Amino acid sequence: MASKYDLSGMNIPNHVAVIMDGNGRWAKKRMLPRNMGHKAGANAVEKIIEEAHDIGIKYLTVYAFSTENWNRPEQEVSALMKLLRNYLEDCIKKADKNNIRVRVIGERNRLAEDIIDRINELEEASKHNDGINFTIALNYGSRDEITRAIKKIAKECEDGVLKAEDINEETVSKHLDTFDMPDPDLLIRTSGEERLSNYLLWQLAYTEFYFTDVLWPDFDREELEKAVIKYNERDRRFGKVSE
Ligand code: IPE
Ligand code: IPE
Ligand code: MG
Repeated sequence: MASKYDLSGMNIPNHVAVIMDGNGRWAKKRMLPRNMGHKAGANAVEKIIEEAHDIGIKYLTVYAFSTENWNRPEQEVSALMKLLRNYLEDCIKKADKNNIRVRVIGERNRLAEDIIDRINELEEASKHNDGINFTIALNYGSRDEITRAIKKIAKECEDGVLKAEDINEETVSKHLDTFDMPDPDLLIRTSGEERLSNYLLWQLAYTEFYFTDVLWPDFDREELEKAVIKYNERDRRFGKVSE
């Protein structure tokens, strides 16, 4: 966990969201099957949680499987689900040991029953941990999340619990899967792609974006520190003028 850069006196982003991309290309470069890239990617996640915690990041939210990723070959989807099963099992032990609070965002019903059970167990078991907040976006798509939020709001209006004229931005935020989390301060996407791929569209409204060519399995503490340094060079104005 050695630091390469001196971050003392720096502004550490409270919430970092990550699009972990490039597992497939990492494997291809090594003439390995794509699934080996996903395995290496899962190892990188484990390490980065601890590094993020050590740096002082309070929330880390990673994109693990998108609503669009079901369109990959069946063999890859099932390998990813298998990896996920193992990961969730491991996570239950590690969350306690390392004081990590784990949450999962995304639409759960499409996931296998045993995976849903494991998620519920993990969230429940770790809910009093007050170290880093680690969130996994699983079968997550921002448009799906917003659509589900709209349905919940519409239902409350129908039931007379909510009046349409009382709906404000907070109402929307509180009906998203991220209802109990602050918005991200920094978004990192690896592998050179510069797009959001349906990730946290509402929540990223004022987030700083950092793109790097590094492939996800190679993303380590040094790379995270570089992103934090870049974040410190930004002037977050939130629509105002600089001080
Ligand atoms: C990201 O790596 C992991 C998931 C989307 C599950 P990719 O699998 O997208 O890797 P590339 O983009 O093909 O290199
Ligand atoms: C985004 O990566 C989703 C995850 C990292 C889980 P993709 O590799 O699926 O995104 P696109 O297809 O390049 O936009
Ligand atoms: Mg990709």
